[in-house]
Amino acid sequence: MNPQRPLVVVGGGVAGMAVALAAAPMPVQWLCRSRHGDGTASILAQGGIAAALGAGDSAADHVADTLAAGADHNNAAMVRWLCTQAPAAIDWLVSLGVKFDRDARGHLQLGREGGHRASRIVHAGGDATGAEVTRAMYRKLGEDPRVHCREGVDVDALLLRGGRVCGVRVLGADGAEEIEASAVVLATGGIGAAFARTSTPCGADGSGLALGMRAGAAVRDLEFMQFHPTALDIRDRHTLPLITEALRGAGANLVDTSGSSLMRGVHAQGDLAPRDVVARRVWRALHEGRGAWLDARRVEGDWQLRFPTVLAACLAHGIDPRRERIPVTPAAHFHMGGLSTDLDGSTTVPGLYAVGETACNGVHGANRLASNSLLEGVLCGRRLGRLLSRLPQVQPRGAHAWRERGDALPEAMQRELRNLLWQAAGPVRDESGLRNAMLGCAAWQQHGWQARLAHALLAAARQRRESLGAHYRSDDVRSPAAATPLAGAS
Ligand code: SIN
Repeated sequence: MNPQRPLVVVGGGVAGMAVALAAAPMPVQWLCRSRHGDGTASILAQGGIAAALGAGDSAADHVADTLAAGADHNNAAMVRWLCTQAPAAIDWLVSLGVKFDRDARGHLQLGREGGHRASRIVHAGGDATGAEVTRAMYRKLGEDPRVHCREGVDVDALLLRGGRVCGVRVLGADGAEEIEASAVVLATGGIGAAFARTSTPCGADGSGLALGMRAGAAVRDLEFMQFHPTALDIRDRHTLPLITEALRGAGANLVDTSGSSLMRGVHAQGDLAPRDVVARRVWRALHEGRGAWLDARRVEGDWQLRFPTVLAACLAHGIDPRRERIPVTPAAHFHMGGLSTDLDGSTTVPGLYAVGETACNGVHGANRLASNSLLEGVLCGRRLGRLLSRLPQVQPRGAHAWRERGDALPEAMQRELRNLLWQAAGPVRDESGLRNAMLGCAAWQQHGWQARLAHALLAAARQRRESLGAHYRSDDVRSPAAATPLAGAS
């Protein structure tokens, strides 16, 4: 590779870091809005990393659970690869210095989360897995002389030459700068922050997805947005602290205000049913005025060790989860859709790659299984980094053109748009809600890229008339339960 043209990796989460680390010996320009990984969804990840490591567990069972959660909409070959490679991903992270939680004999502790029929989730720092993985990977990158890290910058345009992406425009404190690249990887995370209630950071706004779309990259499965059932229900807040599913794995239960179980009789796996099932149940309970609470008072052990992040978030809002129930709400959590890629991360535009939540390689299907996201970020990031390090340098020729993301909507419009998406394209959707939201969005499209992105998502949701995975249409006539109206839905 020509050292004059580095690989440009955009995004500060684990997927981007894994690409940068694995791309050796290529020089890398690593560009992120965040600093030290702060402000990424990765660093917030509480659930851990799924890997079939326990006695009696197997990659085949991990595959089966991933396909079941994904409603068999997954790319099965990719799922098999992911689940088979998962133990090696844990080994790699250990080699980077990640300190996973272990028992007294030094064996990895394996927890359980929704949709998994076995205990196969490794954690670090209790519910601080993402923070620990980010810390170790970030430190490793800082030691790597190949990697030039630029933090606090935004990439707002892609340079194409002869139809091939070969550079970026970077906006930083010193103004705009153009960087020529051998290839560009978008690893900018998901779009949770496009919704009024989200467990993701506000930077998960779909900026990379919007940029890729402007460059002409195909998208896929945009309608599949996962809603986490249990974010801390703080009134009038956009980004909400997550209340990890691992608490339900440790015995916590969802109840209504009167204390009746929300999940009894709903699904064979009860409180640990797949995430979309639980999220809809919580959504429904809230719309019916029953209230939704997580009762974690029976959870055993030291909360400071097991769930320090949840404990701190609850205490900061005047709730002691060891003694009282936690008010919960669904929240936009993970986008299964994104820039359409092949299994290696190539988009449909030469020179442009995508990985992690920005990409859709089909591995998560219609609904991601818990704790498969850090896993995907690490494994697919490594796979892509290695691939790029082996590719011969292509000298782009032909006319050059900049593809810009464009202006952002004014903040007040963004707020309105987030509410619109939450109501129309939240955990429960129907034709009239989607149609009206699209009309509202269409008028805003000229004002900012967020409206164009929302319009594309609404169009995809409208096109898929039948419920599948996290995409739930209450007007899908195939399911009698789906037709039950939500009392007081607004
Ligand atoms: C959680 O901790 O509940 C979320 C884990 C995940 O998104 O996989």
